[in-house]
Amino acid sequence: MFGLLFFATMENIRINTVNGRSLVIMGGDLKTVGDLIPGKGVFIITDTIVKKLYGSTFPAGEVLETEPGEKSKTLTVAGDLCRRLLETGADRSSFILGFGGGVVCDLAGLVASVYMRGVRHAFVSTTLLSQVDASIGGKTGVNLGDYKNIIGTFRQPEFVLCDHRMLSTLPAEEYRSGMGELIKHAVIRDRNLFFDIAASLDRIFERDPSTIGDFIARAVKIKAAVVRRDPLEKGIRRILNFGHTFGHVLETYYRIPHGVAVTQGMLIAAELSVWIGELPHAEFRMLEVALAETGMKSDYELPPNVVSLVSKDKKNISGSLNVVLLRSVGRAFVRNISLTELISFVEYYRESKMRSQPV
Ligand SMILES: NC(=O)c1ccc[n+]([C@@H]2O[C@H](COP(=O)([O-])OP(=O)(O)OC[C@H]3O[C@@H](n4cnc5c(N)ncnc54)[C@H](O)[C@@H]3O)[C@@H](O)[C@H]2O)c1
Repeated sequence: MFGLLFFATMENIRINTVNGRSLVIMGGDLKTVGDLIPGKGVFIITDTIVKKLYGSTFPAGEVLETEPGEKSKTLTVAGDLCRRLLETGADRSSFILGFGGGVVCDLAGLVASVYMRGVRHAFVSTTLLSQVDASIGGKTGVNLGDYKNIIGTFRQPEFVLCDHRMLSTLPAEEYRSGMGELIKHAVIRDRNLFFDIAASLDRIFERDPSTIGDFIARAVKIKAAVVRRDPLEKGIRRILNFGHTFGHVLETYYRIPHGVAVTQGMLIAAELSVWIGELPHAEFRMLEVALAETGMKSDYELPPNVVSLVSKDKKNISGSLNVVLLRSVGRAFVRNISLTELISFVEYYRESKMRSQPV
């Protein structure tokens, strides 16, 4: 798989913040990871699919596997990993390498930040979604029942190695899921990136490492700039949650991939932006058409208990809710809406979907 010539340029993106420093190695070579980690005391957290595909390339270290997928993002699994670390001799000088997609990175990051009050850690990021988003920026987390990422920490990984050739083995739906988060970065902050992605879809879906690598790097620079300004998500960093308020609810209710849910969540948030009077309808339509052209537009119905699920999300602050809205494609902002507004919008949204159903 790695015998192929690899033309993607390597680029380092530094994220230096008050709560830690991280180096994102874009277009890095998986085979160099051994040079970046200590020679001993390494514990690799991965999932069974990634281990099967890439286990032969793992650097020396104790391997701890989890089941793949969102179901592993629980306190029970995190606790079990800690227990296995203890049993296999991990101490405060150990180094945890999360090797996988967003689920592995969220879990390994959490475990590294709590095991013995914190040990060094880094990631080899293996999905499009994690290279573009989940492994970057230092947010870790697990879910609590139906509520996403309720338990977590902020802790920067020492490095994140993104070898884009690993994306060639991703199932199509997972690749599409990652596209959702890629487009999100453009929609919140960079209109030119949005048009460039729209114009390059064929090449992006061919998974040419160099092409996709350039787009991932542009998106990660957007995220890095936001995280540097607000590492603990007190303000501007919230815009990175665009599409997540409704996206998290759809993800949990329908058990669909994160990025697929976020993509529909972005359209709902854009529709809310129009409803509130912030976004011209033409901009909403442009976004809708572009997402339809990527094959990424889905139309899951809002679950019956959407208001209660949304209002228990951690972005909720006593009786009102911070949502990320758009003024145009490329310009997101955070606005507080009341629960009454949320309920009215959900009614409006459901009715408008019913009206647009073919008779
Ligand atoms: N911490 C953050 O800032 C942040 C940001 C966005 C998303 N997330 C989280 O990321 C998670 C989603 O991440 P994800 O989409 O990477 O899911 P994932 O980690 O579950 O990976 C998706 C599937 O792809 C498999 N896989 C991984 N790498 C592969 C490869 N190279 N080839 C083939 N198969 C591979 C995995 O085994 C899994 O089955 C969600 O839990 C979401 O909440 C976190």
